[in-house]
Amino acid sequence: ASVMAMGSLSVCFILKLLFFLLQITPSLAYSLKNCTLDYQETPYDDIYLNCASRKLMTVPDDIPKDAVSVKLPNNQIKNINKEDFCGMSKLTYLDLSENLISYVDIGSFIDLILLKTLKMGQNNLTSLTGNMFQGLSNLTMLDLNENNIQFIHASAFQFLTSLQMLDLGYNMLQKVFDIQPILQLTQIQRLDLRYNQFPSFETKDLMLNISSLKELSISGNNLERFSITTPAFPYLKKLEFSTLGRHFSLKWDIPDETLLRNITHLYIDHPVFSFKEFQNILQSLDSLRHLRLNYLNKVLKKGLLSTLIELNLTETHINALPKGSLQLMKNLNSLNVKSNSLTKVPNDIKNLTFLEILTMDYNLISELTCEDFVNTTRLTELSLNTNRITKLDKCVFGNLTNLKRLDLSNNLLLKFGDTFQTALQKLEVLNLNYNSVIILEKGDFQNLKSLKTLNVASNSVGRVKSKTFQGLNSLKDLTVSLPLDYEPYFRGLHLLENLIIYLNTDGTLKLTQPSGYEAYTNIKSLKSFTVICSGYHYGLPLDVPNQLLQYMKHLELFKAVNVYIHAPVVDTFKYNSQLKTLTLANTDLSELNPELFLSIPNLQSLDLSESNIKSLDFLLQANLNALRYLKLTDNEINVINETVFQFLPSLTYLDLSNNQFSCECSNAGFVQWIKNNKQTQVVNAHQYECSFPLDRRGTFLLDFDVQSCWNDGSFFYFISSTCLVVLTLLTSFIYHFLRWQLAYTFHLFLAFVYDSRRRKKGDPHQFDAFVSYNVHDEDWVYREMLPVLEGEQGWRLCLHHRDFQPGKPIMENITDAIYGSRKTICVISRHYLQSEWCSREIQMASFRLFDEQKDVLILLFLEDIPSRHLSPYYRMRKLVKKRTYLSWPQAAQHPGVFWQNVQRALQTGDALTEETDLLTGPAGP
Ligand SMILES: *[C@@H]1O[C@H](CO)[C@@H](O)[C@H](O)[C@H]1NC(C)=O
Ligand SMILES: *[C@@H]1O[C@H](CO)[C@@H](O)[C@H](O)[C@H]1NC(C)=O
Ligand SMILES: *[C@@H]1O[C@H](CO)[C@@H](O)[C@H](O)[C@H]1NC(C)=O
Ligand SMILES: *[C@@H]1O[C@H](CO)[C@@H](O)[C@H](O)[C@H]1NC(C)=O
Ligand SMILES: *[C@@H]1O[C@H](CO)[C@@H](O)[C@H](O)[C@H]1NC(C)=O
Ligand SMILES: *[C@@H]1O[C@H](CO)[C@@H](O)[C@H](O)[C@H]1NC(C)=O
Ligand SMILES: *[C@@H]1O[C@H](CO)[C@@H](O)[C@H](O)[C@H]1NC(C)=O
Repeated sequence: ASVMAMGSLSVCFILKLLFFLLQITPSLAYSLKNCTLDYQETPYDDIYLNCASRKLMTVPDDIPKDAVSVKLPNNQIKNINKEDFCGMSKLTYLDLSENLISYVDIGSFIDLILLKTLKMGQNNLTSLTGNMFQGLSNLTMLDLNENNIQFIHASAFQFLTSLQMLDLGYNMLQKVFDIQPILQLTQIQRLDLRYNQFPSFETKDLMLNISSLKELSISGNNLERFSITTPAFPYLKKLEFSTLGRHFSLKWDIPDETLLRNITHLYIDHPVFSFKEFQNILQSLDSLRHLRLNYLNKVLKKGLLSTLIELNLTETHINALPKGSLQLMKNLNSLNVKSNSLTKVPNDIKNLTFLEILTMDYNLISELTCEDFVNTTRLTELSLNTNRITKLDKCVFGNLTNLKRLDLSNNLLLKFGDTFQTALQKLEVLNLNYNSVIILEKGDFQNLKSLKTLNVASNSVGRVKSKTFQGLNSLKDLTVSLPLDYEPYFRGLHLLENLIIYLNTDGTLKLTQPSGYEAYTNIKSLKSFTVICSGYHYGLPLDVPNQLLQYMKHLELFKAVNVYIHAPVVDTFKYNSQLKTLTLANTDLSELNPELFLSIPNLQSLDLSESNIKSLDFLLQANLNALRYLKLTDNEINVINETVFQFLPSLTYLDLSNNQFSCECSNAGFVQWIKNNKQTQVVNAHQYECSFPLDRRGTFLLDFDVQSCWNDGSFFYFISSTCLVVLTLLTSFIYHFLRWQLAYTFHLFLAFVYDSRRRKKGDPHQFDAFVSYNVHDEDWVYREMLPVLEGEQGWRLCLHHRDFQPGKPIMENITDAIYGSRKTICVISRHYLQSEWCSREIQMASFRLFDEQKDVLILLFLEDIPSRHLSPYYRMRKLVKKRTYLSWPQAAQHPGVFWQNVQRALQTGDALTEETDLLTGPAGP
């Protein structure tokens, strides 16, 4: 296994290396093939990737490596490979649920050191292998529910040192011993083992001292025994049981009550325990405060549970609570009887004076009486949503002076009347959504001084009288349905921030004109304004939004769906310069004037979907410099000139789904831009289909071969001029920084050419040595050197003053001299090094030395030159470092030995030997 782990490591390493070498910044792959980057309201760099429900068979290969969150649920992924999440060291959230995963490569998660949540529920895993979760040291939540897990390797969880929550529900686990390593994790708090195959859960089967577990959920059709006989779970607070199969058969075996003395929550789905057993349990759990049952046990009828503060009877299939069942629960604080068949409010509620939260949603209650809540004066939340209430008397809520939230949505109320003109002084949230009220009357809500949120939207509202909202001085959020002829009246709503209006167009259009707009000059504080019109209409008779907009100086969001028939007039947003988010959907914007946007330069998000837009040209003059989000789905756009995006410098998110793209050269630039731009994500671009030309219909826009478009002249000119510019830049760059290297290379080249020509001719050497020296050193050459070498030793030397052919170019003379001689003697002094020509001579000779493998160079130093002074003459320095040389100043006492050494150097052949110490000079300067 470790060999395989190594393998996975190296694959990953190689990939990383490749990215590094090629300088690929994976995060900049903006138009992803199968995913979208979720739009972030506030601009920061964290990448939230969404690839849900796309029929993916593998993890896409273009996931940005620095994503923080990746969602891949509801696909058809079968395997997780080690490359899939390689290098994703910033990932904190990964959702792989609802796939077909049956195999996970060893080391697949090894790089995910910051991962906190991993969801792999609803897959096809059968076992958890030893190294599967290697690397997940920061993981706190792991969801593996609804797999087929039968086997857990003993070390599967060893890497999960931070794990707090683990869901293994709906699997095929059989042995409690398999989960022992989980219970030993130091941070573990919640473990879900619902619906597995355990026959029992017994601490005697576990070799466990103390577990930090706080919540345990266990059930299964085979479960027969729950036994805690050791103090292994001192922190356990919440226990949840259920079984679908055998009822009343689970044995509870906890001989010592103190072992579970900290249990406060007991949740029981289905009748797991027999009546007697359940009675014992309740008696032994002294600390129990929260009970959830979804069947009604006899125990409850006897009212044994006076300590409870929360009772949850959701989906208990009851149509009435037996009289007396709740009476004794004097401390009850929260009661939930949601989703049952109650036809009236249980009588016992009257005894629950401490009740604060009462939930009776989804029942069949048709009437509320004045008695129902008369004694529950502490109620703060009352929820009756989705019942059959038709009318409400004023007295019903008369005593609820502490009520803060009241939900009566989805009932059959015909009018509100004086219902709310009561004591609801503290009411903050009132939901009356979806009732059957036809007329909203003046003063319906006038006493609700604390109300912050009111929802009275409904299809049935046919008339809204003026002054309906009078008195709602604290209101911040209002959602209301208005008929088309409503004369908007929002006087007094000084604090209103969020207004949502549904305009009902059914029935006949009443074309009454409003009498004046003074009535809503007060809604100055509005930040968000939404108008949604349902149904077909011929334009709004009263231009509602426009008249309102002029007062909304602080408006940040405006959304109008199916409101305008044509593009709004250009000064619509004249007074809304703070606008950040604008939606004008389901409108005919084919004649959109860009001036509309000039007054809203701070716009960040623009949605113009379903609006007959044919061209993006309006963006050229719209001055939308701050725009980051642009949605233009379901329009009629064929061709986009990519230059338009230069006018949207902040754009990061662009959605053009469901347009009618033309897959012709007119879109070639746009296609290139989608693929190459590094800033703007074109959402789902790989799924955009061609509508034109007809023979390309059904193919994909991004598959269109744009190269074929580049073959015309203009593109050629473009490319050639680009090349020219690049070449010029390159040349000047090279000239500026590299001219010496360049000149040198040129001479090397010359030397090479010359040498091969000469080799072809097979010229014999004219001279034994060419002496390269500087004029300043001529004296020494003629006085000291010539007499010995030519006179005493009889070598034929070539000296440029003496032997160069007059009239020949100097460079050619030098080359001739070097190649016409067996050796080159360089007489090196400071002057020599400074002389340009001389250094080139050396270079050419050293070319012969190194590149032709011929030993031709003899270095005679006339002066002591420290090696650091040689550094500008890098080739020379290299030579000096590599070879021995002859130094005149150091040999001055014994010139005889010096000249003997020169003679030996001149005698050696051309072949480069290992024994370079033929030149025996003093060791390095
Ligand atoms: C992603 O999209 C491309 C093109 O749309 C498709 O060919 C491929 O199968 C998809 N899946 C993955 C995993 O990339
Ligand atoms: C899940 O795995 C089982 C075997 O472990 C296999 O028989 C079944 O076909 C798999 N299901 C899917 C949807 O791949
Ligand atoms: C967990 O994440 C933190 C940063 O949040 C990091 O510093 C630490 O190294 C991680 N721990 C491990 C064990 O990887
Ligand atoms: C259990 O509850 C008791 C009080 O009932 C408390 O003193 C004790 O600290 C709790 N133990 C743990 C481990 O929470
Ligand atoms: C009550 O129980 C149901 C399931 O029986 C659950 O969905 C709901 O969240 C619970 N409500 C509370 C307030 O605990
Ligand atoms: C309700 O309260 C009244 C006094 O306000 C009291 O007389 C009555 O008995 C109480 N009813 C119940 C059911 O507790
Ligand atoms: C509950 O209220 C009823 C009156 O509605 C009263 O007769 C009864 O004694 C009360 N029960 C308890 C336990 O207080």
